[in-house]
Amino acid sequence: MSEPLKKDLLGLDGVSADDINTILDTAKSFKEISHRRVKKVPALRGKTICNLFFEPSTRTRASFELAEKRLSADAVNISKSGSSVAKGETLRDTAENLQAMMIDVIVIRHSASGAPHFLASLLNASVINAGDGAHEHPTQGLLDIFTLREKFGDLKGKKITIIGDITHSRVARSNIYGLVTLGANVTVCGPPTLMPARVSELGVDVETNLRRAVTDADAVNVLRIQLERQKVNLFPSLAEYADVYGINSERLKWMKPDCLIMHPGPMNRGVEISQDVADGRQAVILEQVTNGVAIRMAVLYLLCGGVQLTKPDDVIEAAEEKEDTKVS
Ligand code: CP
Repeated sequence: MSEPLKKDLLGLDGVSADDINTILDTAKSFKEISHRRVKKVPALRGKTICNLFFEPSTRTRASFELAEKRLSADAVNISKSGSSVAKGETLRDTAENLQAMMIDVIVIRHSASGAPHFLASLLNASVINAGDGAHEHPTQGLLDIFTLREKFGDLKGKKITIIGDITHSRVARSNIYGLVTLGANVTVCGPPTLMPARVSELGVDVETNLRRAVTDADAVNVLRIQLERQKVNLFPSLAEYADVYGINSERLKWMKPDCLIMHPGPMNRGVEISQDVADGRQAVILEQVTNGVAIRMAVLYLLCGGVQLTKPDDVIEAAEEKEDTKVS
């Protein structure tokens, strides 16, 4: 079981509703900082955070780094190609060397499911899972849930439909764990070949018919088709996938007029989502990205021992005043 407010955030499986709400409430407080002229508070001054990205990333990597900078932490960025991993160093040696440099937090993205859990068991530093194989992507799940909560308030009874490659999607898994914990009604939809066995045991409804899956949905989360994770062709062609499961303006007519359209990115425009839907009125895709910074600020802050922000502005202002006093 993950313990998000203690040492690590490895996944949303087993995280309580109270803990999820603590992270979301803290993120709500931090979101405002990114809209200031000077986007910085001293909340994590003196902390050192290493972003260890062994798989490509735009959104997660940039937003963790921005979150660290906006909280005044020192950030170190390491990628697979630019590190000694390319010379054969093991993950364990890499992590232990970083810890020897007194790193406080390691943010890791890795193609192997369980890599963050391995580091968490090895290190005193906090470990945050930024996506491990086809397992979990907890901060993506949290930012999706944060975006939904901003729109709907309480998520109890809301119908959230997740469409696509459920088997290979760490985004789907983290969304399912978090949303079910908060009382949402989750439906997963996709070709049977992209549906994990026993997925209904996670507390979701399973639907292979797209029309039935999106009817009455309050939000539709469209997953990326991850060709790089499929070892065999699990559907005939991208064109056929788009034809049967792609979300386009015709399929929007099956949905409620105010149904939200979400996508974790990066998008395959013209495959799982059409150009006009991705850029349309119902899409909240860039709001998800904006919220990602606030969520990562909250997770970093709480794991570094920050108190729960019941009166966030007071806490942030107190820290700023302390900082001003030191400077003057
Ligand atoms: N959603 C997501 O994880 O995007 P990146 O791969 O760009 O980080």
